[in-house]
Amino acid sequence: MKFKFLNSADSYGFVTKHLHWIMAVIIIFNFILALILDDFPRGPMRSFLFGIHKSTGILVVILLIPRLLWRLINTTPNPLGDIKTLNKISKYIHYFFYFILLVVIFSGWIYSSARSGPFEVFGLFTAPALIENNPVVANIAKEIHGISVYIFITVLGIHVAASLVHHYIFKDKTLKRMWYGDSK
Ligand code: HEM
Ligand code: HEM
Repeated sequence: MKFKFLNSADSYGFVTKHLHWIMAVIIIFNFILALILDDFPRGPMRSFLFGIHKSTGILVVILLIPRLLWRLINTTPNPLGDIKTLNKISKYIHYFFYFILLVVIFSGWIYSSARSGPFEVFGLFTAPALIENNPVVANIAKEIHGISVYIFITVLGIHVAASLVHHYIFKDKTLKRMWYGDSK
């Protein structure tokens, strides 16, 4: 298999594939961590793990910067399905994915800022508070964080189901070209 750095009209290159899968693992990890934390007893361990949750969310937004820039300067491969409407929907779902992910991250960040100010990201640097202490905004942002993350997970379910339908029912290369198989 030939090494390809860039995307082309029919395949994804090294950078897009790696950003996609690395970020998928990080985001799903952060989702599961938050669910476990929800039922965790209060104390230093819970605070520590919430620090990891917030830091991981910041890591995702940092990775989103090269990912979106790369998407802007690169081609995106053409969809492989024959149904035009479905291809259009898949394009908008991809846009929506980025949008809802940003809502999840910034609502979390605003909530955390309004409630407890700046915080350390993996002990490496300080993430600034996006707004000043404000219990009303904190409550609204918390609600938005909780709701948007479930919208995100629903979209993820559709996204995964669609890629499995392409792979097992349409039997095309949609999943393989994002993974490491034959991308043609
Ligand atoms: C990939 C990004 C993120 C995902 C998938 C995610 C996911 C979640 C989930 C599933 C919950 C539990 C919600 C509930 O059941 O009500 C949660 C709670 C929370 N998240 Fe995030 N989050 C992300 C990013 C962030 C960021 C960037 C911050 C802050 C900087 C943050 C701060 C919080 C806080 C403080 C809570 C606790 C809310 C409460 O007290 O109920 N999250 N997150
Ligand atoms: C948090 C998890 C995920 C997010 C945020 C995500 C997001 C995206 C986005 C935005 C694209 C469009 C291409 C791009 O801009 O990079 C894409 C493509 C793709 N994703 Fe995901 N994805 C996730 C997880 C998964 C998983 C778990 C699977 C499979 C089981 C998967 C399969 C694919 C496939 C096959 C494509 C290529 C679609 C095409 O060629 O039209 N993704 N993903």
